[in-house]
Amino acid sequence: EMLEKGGYDHFMLKEIYEQPRSIRDCLRGRIYPQQGNVQLGGIKEYADKLRNLDRIIIVACGTSWHAGLVGEYLIEEYARISVEVEYASEFRYRNPIITEKDLVIAISQSGETADTMAAIELAKEKGATIFGVCNVVGASIPRVTHAGVYTHAGPEIGVASTKAFTSQVTVLTLMAFYMAQQRGAITQSKLIEYLTELDAIPTLIEKALKTNDKIKEIAAKFKDSRNCLFLGRGSSFPVALEGALKLKEISYIHAEGYPAAEMKHGPIALIDAEMPVVFIATKHSSYEKVISNIQEVKARGGRVIAIVSEGDTTVKDMADYVIEIPQTGEAFVPLVATIPLQLLSYHIAVMRGCNVDQPRNLAKSVTVE
Ligand code: AGP
Repeated sequence: EMLEKGGYDHFMLKEIYEQPRSIRDCLRGRIYPQQGNVQLGGIKEYADKLRNLDRIIIVACGTSWHAGLVGEYLIEEYARISVEVEYASEFRYRNPIITEKDLVIAISQSGETADTMAAIELAKEKGATIFGVCNVVGASIPRVTHAGVYTHAGPEIGVASTKAFTSQVTVLTLMAFYMAQQRGAITQSKLIEYLTELDAIPTLIEKALKTNDKIKEIAAKFKDSRNCLFLGRGSSFPVALEGALKLKEISYIHAEGYPAAEMKHGPIALIDAEMPVVFIATKHSSYEKVISNIQEVKARGGRVIAIVSEGDTTVKDMADYVIEIPQTGEAFVPLVATIPLQLLSYHIAVMRGCNVDQPRNLAKSVTVE
């Protein structure tokens, strides 16, 4: 087993460190930055459908649902198609309005999740076209979908999803640009710019992984916390949700993810000196707004850990701890900002003596309702 872990203490840590490679594998043969061209062989027969589409529904569970939320921001922003993201378990039981004009994208690492499978069957009966975004080649979901794009993250052993999540986000980013290209919603020069940035993401993730020692120190300070809040805005909101899910899954600390602006509608009541609040506060469109949210937490004695863009000094002066990640275009923040949150949960869980690869009560794939 030590051999399989490649010298890492846990599969989860190995899989966190594999991300530069898994994302490179996911991008290979699919992007041509110099030409500003995205090729997705798995869905190319549906290019016409994509040109004449009004609505996309994404169905998934857990971490895959979080990836779907990132996909919603990207597809709406770049391809200008309206997207709804649904928990597969809710979708399947509520007689959803769905027609043959709709495209449903089902996201699943394992390709075996029972609720996601049932949601696909329901949408298929109603005549929708179904795309899959799966990791396990030949699993049940890719066999029942009309078309799809594999994530190519390689086997994920840790029950807590890490590299599968960033690969799902990568595929959804590719889909957003592919749809934008098909629909003429993006200029060639913008595509060249974005694809060049996307191509550099694995290198930026390598840099983000270098924050590991610092994160370990921060983890030591917070390992005995009983609660934790994760806040972000825009596409960093699903990153906050994923950060919270990771922490609760493997360390059993109660954690909640919220859009930062929602804090004042309830969660702010929880803030005291015992409450760590993790902010995703990179220098992008909502930076100034996130700064005011940080001030609101500090004013109430909360302890702030902030994920910031390299070189940021404003947040550094306010937060208790900052973790710097390389600056990147807004579209790609989720891919980079997720890395320190995975490491933070990992170290806290290890310090608490938890079984990180096989947390209690959880299964890698949930094949029953
Ligand atoms: C993630 O860390 C989970 N353990 C879990 O939420 C998972 O993402 C969910 O069960 C969906 O699985 P799938 O991607 O294989 O469908």
